[in-house]
Amino acid sequence: MKVSKNQTIQDFGEQWVRYRDNEGYYGSLELFSDILSPFLKPDELKGCKVAEIGSGTGRIVNMLLEAGAENVIASEPSEALDVLRENIRQPDKVTCLKITGDQLPASGDLDYVFSIGVLHHIQDPTPVVEAAFNALRPGGHLFIWVYGKEGNRLYLTFLTLLRMFTTHLPHRMLTSLVEMMYWPLVSYMKLCHRCALPLRRYLLAVFEKMSPQKRRLVIYDQLNPSFAKYYTRPEVEKLLLDGKFRDVRVHHRHGYSWTAIGTKPQP
Ligand SMILES: C[S@@+](CC[C@H](N)C(=O)[O-])C[C@H]1O[C@@H](n2cnc3c(N)ncnc32)[C@H](O)[C@@H]1O
Repeated sequence: MKVSKNQTIQDFGEQWVRYRDNEGYYGSLELFSDILSPFLKPDELKGCKVAEIGSGTGRIVNMLLEAGAENVIASEPSEALDVLRENIRQPDKVTCLKITGDQLPASGDLDYVFSIGVLHHIQDPTPVVEAAFNALRPGGHLFIWVYGKEGNRLYLTFLTLLRMFTTHLPHRMLTSLVEMMYWPLVSYMKLCHRCALPLRRYLLAVFEKMSPQKRRLVIYDQLNPSFAKYYTRPEVEKLLLDGKFRDVRVHHRHGYSWTAIGTKPQP
């Protein structure tokens, strides 16, 4: 289904002014290490000049700062920009820009560009990948994390049906639905300790470590945005290779999503 770009951005603006903070494991360096593994360690970002595309409420920006990044460009196109500004822990090191990913300035001097949980919400992500390429120095890296298709077939069938309805719900009704789903999901997560059920690895490695409030946000985040795409491994590879990145490596994270890193070649 064709969804307008502005609709997804508006959905997130409304989501982030309601779920403003990044407390606990959800905003931790421990989670960042998990996201970066096996390609990078937070230490490798010490002194680096980086950008994040689609910063939301700034949890990744704060993770980048805690890892030691020297300068961060935080870009966020939605009304969440004010929340992002409020949440940033070292504002002197951060430039906040209210832009879409394709408008990232082509400075050509960044060591890394990150886009965590964003490209799968953009119908045509190619211009965003191109903008990341132009913002990086030769030898710089683009790191992305997107939802995965492989291994999620049962979950995606259920989710696709549910989203036909939930993407149109007003906030209050959606939070009531999230509340109804919360305890059954927690019971399912506990069952995962004993049985090899779908999504087991993600639920035990990530979801279980989050606070109840952040688990509810994760459920809300699956049901709210108008557009979400679930990528196959070849689609992830193609996205970076078409954007002229080389040495592209892809990792199946906890069996439910993809992280990928590509390098801008030297001229
Ligand atoms: C799931 S959130 C991820 C936020 C943050 N990266 C994190 O992991 O906490 C996706 C974000 O992408 C932003 N976004 C949506 N469309 C975008 C676009 N075309 N360019 C850049 N960001 C976009 C949304 O506004 C939202 O804040």
